[in-house]
Amino acid sequence: MSAICTDSATFENAIGDEACFLIVTEEALRAADLRRLAERVGAQPSWSDLPFIVLTRRAAGRENDPFLACLSDTLGNVTFLERPFHPATFISVARTALKGRARQYEARARIEELHESEERLRTALAAGRLGSWELDLATCEITASASYKALLRRKPDEPLTYADVIANVHPDDRERLETALRTTVEAGSDYAVDARVMWPDNSIRWVEFRARLVRTSGNIPSRLTGVSSDVTHRRNAEASLRQLNETLEERVAERTAELQRAHASVLAQIEQRERAEEQLRQVQKIEMIGQLTGGVAHDFNNLLMAILGNLELLRKHIPNDAKSARLIAGAVQGAERGATLTQRLLAFARRQDLRIEPKSLIDLVSGMTDLLERSVGSQIELEIDLPSKLPLALVDANQIELALLNLVVNARDAMPEGGMLSIRVDQAKAHAGMEMVAGSYVRLIVSDTGQGMGAETLRRATEPFFTTKELGKGTGLGLSMIHGLAVQLNGALRLESEPGCGTVAELWLPVTTLAAEPKVCEEHIRPSAANSAKMTILIVDDDPLIAMSTVDMLEDLGHEVVGAQSGAQALEVLQNNRPFDLLITDFSMPKMTGVQLARAVREMRPELPILLATGYAELPAGSDLDLPRIGKPYLQEQLAVEIGKVVRREYS
Ligand SMILES: Nc1ncnc2c1ncn2[C@@H]1O[C@H](COP(=O)(O)OP(=O)(O)OP(=O)(O)O)[C@@H](O)[C@H]1O
Ligand SMILES: [Mg+2]
Repeated sequence: MSAICTDSATFENAIGDEACFLIVTEEALRAADLRRLAERVGAQPSWSDLPFIVLTRRAAGRENDPFLACLSDTLGNVTFLERPFHPATFISVARTALKGRARQYEARARIEELHESEERLRTALAAGRLGSWELDLATCEITASASYKALLRRKPDEPLTYADVIANVHPDDRERLETALRTTVEAGSDYAVDARVMWPDNSIRWVEFRARLVRTSGNIPSRLTGVSSDVTHRRNAEASLRQLNETLEERVAERTAELQRAHASVLAQIEQRERAEEQLRQVQKIEMIGQLTGGVAHDFNNLLMAILGNLELLRKHIPNDAKSARLIAGAVQGAERGATLTQRLLAFARRQDLRIEPKSLIDLVSGMTDLLERSVGSQIELEIDLPSKLPLALVDANQIELALLNLVVNARDAMPEGGMLSIRVDQAKAHAGMEMVAGSYVRLIVSDTGQGMGAETLRRATEPFFTTKELGKGTGLGLSMIHGLAVQLNGALRLESEPGCGTVAELWLPVTTLAAEPKVCEEHIRPSAANSAKMTILIVDDDPLIAMSTVDMLEDLGHEVVGAQSGAQALEVLQNNRPFDLLITDFSMPKMTGVQLARAVREMRPELPILLATGYAELPAGSDLDLPRIGKPYLQEQLAVEIGKVVRREYS
């Protein structure tokens, strides 16, 4: 397409990217404003050099025409064509101009492409958070993008040299950076280094530097062109991964140990449960044996009572026969030993009649020192360690004395070759989880350096009839009795023993805040049996054997006795208004117990003294009647003493 410009303004406007070339006459140019033309030409983009074909007049010396000469300078790409011209010449000139312009358009396309790809690169760099840079090896100057400078915390317009970058790098990493640069320049290998960069706020970032060597056309290394990015996150992640790997073995070992510990604890729990079950079985067994033993011992006690009573009376009836007396004495001794045995059985069954009172264990032990010394013999060193002060304990003093003697004898028997026996008394606290109620206790501790016990013996030591002593030497009731007593007193018996290392037996007894009862002079409470006045006594016992023996004893003492076989029968007798001085009743009777009878009698005859005979007075809890008691079996002498006390109202 071609256009004709009829005035110089249109011509000026035609100077642009779209025009392929302009044809203009010399005359038109002479009339135009050359200065403005020159401005338009000068304003062309870099790729554009618009061809002008100037049609000149035929004239000699055109070369010397200053106007035409300056046209070349003003318009740049000018071809002069002298008129008149041959059409072929014109076509040739126009074609050349067109070709030139086509090349310029090509260049324009290239330049645009270049711009586009540069833009793409910039976008890619920004997306990858990469800073681009170029190091001039000759000047050591660095041309870098703003992102690169930001990595070093430098301003976008700040000039940068290699030395500046090195100054930013952590001193420990500089050597690596320098070595990498030398290697790249010498060997042409890729430049790739991670280095720590220090920021002005003293924080440290990891920056990755990657570049390639660029050579001149003469193959001389001239530049390093590359990119950099912040790899702090990656480095930190790598470091923690490395650390994780390094500690992995340690953690595996730790976890294994943990699992082993857990396993061991499970095993321990299982073992503990099995132990607890075994203990429970043991307790149930002992409880059952206790019930059996208690029942048997009770009946046996009544029999002994009858035997002893009758033997005693028999002795009185045949006073002058020495042989008979000896035989009777033997029988009495046997029966008394039987009584001791039943007493132990009752104690084990926790069914003995306890006289509980606040007592000082210091007094109790010191009062037994002589007896204990005699019991242990000379081969054994006895050490008694008593504190100067100790709270009182609620105990039955006689039973505790028996228990202590039993423990001492056990210790002595465990040290046939001699050794050390120590008796201590102190105060201790029981915590929850122990076999007794938490609280304050007084402890009686007997320890020896004897042969000790194996686990099985220790486990069975408190079982009744369990003994390791030879036949006839031990009944196996010592510890079971002490255990029963301790439980009955709301305390506990604890044993610790190790074969060859000796034994420690601890008797825990609850502390009381009650005050000790004043001591009553023995003589005062010991009236002579013979001195008692003649009385009328009502005796109640469901066991005819006992009733008979007691009646005989009382009649022998000179009293008048009426017997009744049950509570009901006794009440019947009392209703007849017959005067009585005393009522003696058994405690354990079917239908109506001694205590129930006593309560009924108190209603009818409040003045009538009552004496309760108990083989095992498991007096029911809350029994408000505080009756004087006599333990079965009893001898005539004891009966006389107790009757004396009751009649003189020495009991409150
Ligand atoms: N201090 C001790 N050292 C070693 N073993 C002991 C000790 N105390 C008790 N034993 C063991 O416990 C068993 C049971 O003791 P326990 O006192 O109940 O009966 P015993 O002493 O055998 O008979 P008894 O008390 O009638 O003389 C003993 O036979 C003994 O094996
Ligand atoms: Mg014993």
